[in-house]
Amino acid sequence: MTRFLFPKTTNLLRPVLILLSVAVPVYAVAFVWYCFSPVTIDKGYAPAQPIPYSHALHAGELGIDCRYCHSTVEATGKASIPPTQVCMNCHQTVRSQSPKLAELRKSYSTGEPVEWVRVHDLPDYVYFNHSAHVTRGVGCSSCHGRVDKMETVTQVAPLSMAWCLDCHRNPSQNIRPKDQVTRMDWQPADAASQNTLVNHYGTKPSTDCSTCHR
Ligand code: HEC
Ligand code: HEC
Ligand code: HEC
Ligand code: HEC
Ligand code: HEC
Repeated sequence: MTRFLFPKTTNLLRPVLILLSVAVPVYAVAFVWYCFSPVTIDKGYAPAQPIPYSHALHAGELGIDCRYCHSTVEATGKASIPPTQVCMNCHQTVRSQSPKLAELRKSYSTGEPVEWVRVHDLPDYVYFNHSAHVTRGVGCSSCHGRVDKMETVTQVAPLSMAWCLDCHRNPSQNIRPKDQVTRMDWQPADAASQNTLVNHYGTKPSTDCSTCHR
């Protein structure tokens, strides 16, 4: 359990914490524990959202492309979260009185953005870039899983350094034709075809420290 509660950098504190835990009351330890907990929570993190927005319905059943809402994902490092107006393109008429959309209508009338809760969040000392992946044929589902089946977005990958490096060292099973990056049911072809595609694209992810720590 401690693996998940502490970032590895706090390993040095472990002996201190262990000492404290035998020496002082539980609440003191709990306090120190709390102070050093990372903001990122591992695999399986699926916080509740202010509106019960479902990817399973919108991206799955209705088949809306990821880029309709996450429109900056190919062009920039960050994948944008859609502003209220994008939802209103439909919900001004579709289910316009639904109580489940009350927060959306409030945001639309006040101009205050909906306070979506962040799910994936790398530590600040890590540099990540969506565009560099998506334009090289790494699809959303390789890192985010079957979002089209999620009622609530859940983090499926550990987002650890080992996870990044596993793919950077051997990306071939994760490279697909560039026009299929948002396809959710994509599966790799046989090893030979995968290698051909990787060679054709000239894909060679770097494992230099400065790639991700700059
Ligand atoms: C109709 C708009 C819409 C579409 C289409 C859509 N999304 Fe989203 N997405 C959102 C909204 C709104 C959020 C923030 C609320 C949430 O997390 O559910 C979000 C959140 C996410 C997150 C979590 C972001 C975080 O905080 O870490 C991921 C990952 C994601 N979407 C991936 C996808 C993928 C992959 C697709 C295509 C299969 C897709 N989305 C299609 C609107 C959309
Ligand atoms: C392309 C059109 C479209 C867009 C864009 C869209 N929706 Fe929807 N949404 C729908 C449809 C269609 C339904 C299903 C209506 C039904 O069940 O009859 C729906 C249903 C919903 C529901 C369930 C409503 C209920 O009463 O059950 C919620 C909540 C919702 N959408 C939120 C959002 C949010 C938030 C966004 C923006 C991030 C968004 N939608 C963007 C078309 C859209
Ligand atoms: C190589 C892995 C990878 C791929 C491919 C990928 N993502 Fe992400 N995504 C991440 C990571 C890692 C984060 C957290 C970034 C951070 O904390 O800075 C993230 C965060 C997000 C977020 C939250 C906003 C942000 O940029 O931090 C959204 C939305 C999202 N991804 C959508 C998508 C969509 C849509 C696709 C496909 C078009 C996609 N992602 C492809 C790894 C990936
Ligand atoms: C599923 C495979 C995969 C995963 C997982 C992955 N990457 Fe990558 N990454 C790639 C590929 C492929 C490229 C593009 C290589 C190329 O341009 O030849 C890339 C490129 C990058 C680049 C761009 C380098 C540049 O010079 O533009 C950065 C930064 C990066 N990755 C960071 C990360 C981080 C941080 C993580 C983990 C949070 C991660 N990646 C996880 C496959 C992956
Ligand atoms: C492909 C991206 C990538 C590369 C390349 C990379 N790192 Fe990391 N590194 C990460 C990510 C993501 C994290 C944070 C995730 C975590 O806490 O496990 C991280 C965390 C760390 C930490 C924090 C300690 C810890 O484990 O919590 C150190 C120190 C570190 N990296 C050093 C290095 C060094 C040294 C290199 C070069 C040999 C390197 N990294 C190369 C992605 C990368």
